[in-house]
Amino acid sequence: MTYSKILGTGSYLPEKVLTNHDMEKMVDTTNEWIVERTGIKERHIAADDENAVTMADQAARAALAAAGLQPHDVEMIIVASTTPYMVFPSTACLLQERFGIAGCPAFDLNATACAGFMYGFSIADQFIRTGTIKNALVIGSEIMSRVVDWNDRSTCVLFGDGAGAVVLGKSEEPGILSTHLHADGTHKDVLYLPLGTRKTPNLESVKMLGNPLFKLAVNILGDLFDETLAANGLQKSDVDWLVPHQANMRIIQAMAKKLNLPMERVAITLDKQGNTSSASIPLALDQAVRDGRIKRGQMLMMEGFGGGLAWGSALVKY
Ligand code: UT7
Repeated sequence: MTYSKILGTGSYLPEKVLTNHDMEKMVDTTNEWIVERTGIKERHIAADDENAVTMADQAARAALAAAGLQPHDVEMIIVASTTPYMVFPSTACLLQERFGIAGCPAFDLNATACAGFMYGFSIADQFIRTGTIKNALVIGSEIMSRVVDWNDRSTCVLFGDGAGAVVLGKSEEPGILSTHLHADGTHKDVLYLPLGTRKTPNLESVKMLGNPLFKLAVNILGDLFDETLAANGLQKSDVDWLVPHQANMRIIQAMAKKLNLPMERVAITLDKQGNTSSASIPLALDQAVRDGRIKRGQMLMMEGFGGGLAWGSALVKY
């Protein structure tokens, strides 16, 4: 049987850090409100000469180095991003050009928002399982600071910039046990980012109905864990680590409770990075792998949830 497994991880964060105290000077908010309601203390903000491609490049090179591979070994590039450098060419194609590896398939997933990384992860897994390719780069890269309304305190305090990457490769043993993807367009109005192609009204910044979204996230993710474990005949007690999308600490705490995991067994970057949309899961994974908390052989529950609505999970033996 052919499976895929995580060969290496990498990430990139812009140098500039914006703290809650900095935000207090920009909008009518307080450090206390942000920490209490979200768990966020600071976030990274990209420099003027950075974009989704430059950040993806850094994260991908780190992941390839960790996997012991060179750019020319890569057989597929998938970039999840709601904030691509261009509508087209895709961020994946622009990255491929930087890597000098013309020929392999390269494409973006942008419509799956914060769930984009899980969608890319699942697609790469399918291609590797069927033997079509031997490996794939899956990247989440986001420059959310360019699409938030910096006058809207209800959204601008939430997001940050960064990129995370994994290299998936062929394996005789799992690896990725299963992936699960879902979407429900009836909730299209709780979180959206209009595009310049709309005729009216063209306000290109993130719009969010935070509270309804919060409740949807908690319910949907709880069911997703049940589905993911049941598909593998496993119990909550089999899960060593939760590697969640980082939107709100209270959502993450509820998810840890659902899995009976202490918070020490949850990969958290939210406090230092804010919500980096599709980059948040690989950023959290890479940090916990590099500092030695997540070890080979451990069972990871990964989940992503975002606009669409779209959501997805993976159960992974790291
Ligand atoms: O990544 C994709 C998935 N995203 C999510 O899952 C996000 C889910 N939602 C959330 O994380 C939370 O709903 C938020 C953090 C966005 C908001 O927290 P909340 O506890 O749901 O607050 P709320 O929206 O109900 O707002 C409570 C109050 C409001 O004031 P009033 O109407 O009670 O007077 C807001 O105007 O907090 C006010 N408020 C703020 N106050 C200070 C909203 N933003 C701020 C702010 N500083 N930055």
